Amino acid sequence: MELIDGKATAAEIKAEIKAEVEQMVSQGKRRPHLAAILVGHDGGSETYVKNKVLACEACGFQSTLLRFEDDITEEFLLEQVGKLNEDPSVDGFIVQLPLPKHISEQKVIEAIDYRKDVDGFHPINVGRMAIGLPCYISATPKGILELLRRYQIPTSGRRCVILGRSNIVGKPMAQLMMQKQYGDSTVIVCHSHSKTLKEECRQADIIIAAIGQPGFVTADMVKPGATIIDVGTTRVPDATRKSGFRLSGDVDFQHVAPLCDYITPVPGGVGPMTICMLMSNTLAAARKEYYD
Ligand code: GUN
Repeated sequence: MELIDGKATAAEIKAEIKAEVEQMVSQGKRRPHLAAILVGHDGGSETYVKNKVLACEACGFQSTLLRFEDDITEEFLLEQVGKLNEDPSVDGFIVQLPLPKHISEQKVIEAIDYRKDVDGFHPINVGRMAIGLPCYISATPKGILELLRRYQIPTSGRRCVILGRSNIVGKPMAQLMMQKQYGDSTVIVCHSHSKTLKEECRQADIIIAAIGQPGFVTADMVKPGATIIDVGTTRVPDATRKSGFRLSGDVDFQHVAPLCDYITPVPGGVGPMTICMLMSNTLAAARKEYYD
């Protein structure tokens, strides 16, 4: 069994991005600039956004954090999105999700200029991704592809089971794993209503678990020699930690790991790669790699 070290891989990639940024700066170009909008005080969102700002520093990017209280109106938030769309000093920006219930996430996502949508959530980027055109690819699926590539884990023609069908992970992951230029795999998507979920998992060469249920993937669901990618990051109470919680993946790591060829830990697997791929998308935005 080999552990897929997302933390070390992310550090390597950030160093590569930083070297490219310093080269850009030495050629007289300005640093890539990522802006983030954070609404309210959700603990998970606060941590994610803080880590995104720190990753910008590590990559030599400029970053701007715009914070608003959770009683702002949808109209006000859409105005802020409009301002970032128009600001030529901002290469890309994100609106951290989830948003308060009175604000339509879909309306906000669609208000973002797709050329600055480094999260890859805008329907234009989602559609272009689905048909294999150049675009921003959302960070978690892109990070998983990068881990599979850097660890030289074969995917072509292999059976890949994806657990979960969210817009952020499950759906784009399925699109990418099936495409010839990325995974080139046989893809099966299972979700909360799948009757044959366990049987599908048992036949899988690769399982990508993104359902948010701690320990859901158990040893009896895993074929010996499989590759397991764990996207779960559920906060579970833990009195022994200063924070009062720990992160738990979707996989029963202790019992599944000995069976696998490759497995990602939680934390330190997919999580660090997600933020790193947001940096990669921001560098692409600054270089206008996909759009003018
Ligand atoms: N909330 C959870 N993951 C993400 C993400 O990748 N981007 C944004 N904007 N919000 C999130």
